[in-house]
Amino acid sequence: MAYTYTTPWLLVVTELLILVSITESKVPAIIVFGDSTVDAGNNNVVSTLLKSNFRPYGRDFSGGRPTGRFSNGRIPPDFISEAFGLKPTVPAYLDPAYDIADFATGVCFASAGTGYDNATSDVLNVIPMWKELEYYKEYQNKLRAHVGKDKANEILSEALYLMSLGTNDFLENYYILPKRQSQFTVKQYEDFLIGLAGNFIRELYGLGVRKISLTGLPPMGCLPLERTLNILDQNECVEKYNKVALEFNWKLNGLVKRLNKELPGLRLMLADAYTILYQIIKRPSLYGFDAVEVACCSTGTYEMSYLCSEHNPLTCLDANKYVFWDAFHPTEKTNHIIVNHLIDALQANYR
Ligand SMILES: *[C@@H]1O[C@H](CO)[C@@H](O)[C@H](O)[C@H]1NC(C)=O
Repeated sequence: MAYTYTTPWLLVVTELLILVSITESKVPAIIVFGDSTVDAGNNNVVSTLLKSNFRPYGRDFSGGRPTGRFSNGRIPPDFISEAFGLKPTVPAYLDPAYDIADFATGVCFASAGTGYDNATSDVLNVIPMWKELEYYKEYQNKLRAHVGKDKANEILSEALYLMSLGTNDFLENYYILPKRQSQFTVKQYEDFLIGLAGNFIRELYGLGVRKISLTGLPPMGCLPLERTLNILDQNECVEKYNKVALEFNWKLNGLVKRLNKELPGLRLMLADAYTILYQIIKRPSLYGFDAVEVACCSTGTYEMSYLCSEHNPLTCLDANKYVFWDAFHPTEKTNHIIVNHLIDALQANYR
C-alpha cells in the first residue's frame, strides 16, 4: 500500500515545486537609469564628445563589437539581466537596432556623463535625469500599445530597476567647475544630490515602479584618472574623494530607509559597489589582476572616449589583467566580479 501512494505524492510535490519556481521568478525585465557605469549606448545618438562606439571599446563584446558601452565588453546590467534568466545584454533605448519587442524584457535609459544634478549633464551635453524619466514614460506607453495595458502594467511593476550614478556630480562637476562650489560646501552638495535622488525615486514610484536597486558611489578616488592627477601623493588613491563617496553612500542608505517607510510597497535597496571594488583595488592579485593603477587603454593614465584610440600601440593585449579598461571605467572582468558579489542580495530581494 505504502508503495502505491509514493509515486503520486512525489508527482504532486514535483508539480508544486515547479509552480513555486515559476511564480517566484518574478523579474520580467531589467530597466536601467544612470551614467556611463550602466549606459549601453544611448550616447551614440547624442551630440556629445563622450562616446565609446568605436574600437577598442567592445573588443571583447560578442562579435568584438563596439556598442557604446564604456568597457571592453559587458557592463553590470548585462550580467544582472543574465543572472535573472533574461537576455545576456540590456539594449539602449535610443539604439535604432532595437524596438519595443526587445525592450519588453529590458531597456537602458542611461547616459554616460550624466548625474543627479542638471548642471552635471550640461557639462558634456548628455541626457539629464529628467529626460531619462521622459524617455521612460514614453517607453511605458509604447509597451502598453505593444503587449496591452494589463500585461504592460504587470511588467512595469514587477521589473527590476537599476539606478547607478553620482560620480560625475563630484568629479566632472563639483570639483572641476566653480558654480556648485560657490553655492555649496561638499556636505551641502551631497545633501542636495540626496534630495534629487529622493525626488527621482518618488517620481518612479508614482509611475508604478516598485523594485529599485540604487547603486552607491564607487571608490572614485582610485579611478586611474584621479590617481594620475594626484601627483603630490605618488599617484595614490585620492582619499578625499573616497571619503566623500563613503559619506554619500551612508546618506543614500538613510534615504533608502526613509523612502521604504514613506512609500508603501516600495522595495528599494542600496547596492554597495564600493566595498567589493575597493577590495579588488587593494588586493588586485587575489582576483587575477596585474594592474590597477593604470588602465588598459593607451597609456591608461587619462584616456577615455575619443582619446582611447584603436591606433595607440600602448593599449594592453589582455584586458582581463587590468581592473580598469579606460581611465574612468572598469574592465568587463571587474564588472562581472562586482555583479557576482551583488547578485545574491538582488536575487534574495527581488526573485
Ligand atoms: C532640471 O531641469 C528640468 C528641465 O528644465 C527641470 O524641470 C527641473 O526642475 C530641473 N531640476 C532642478 C533640481 O533644478
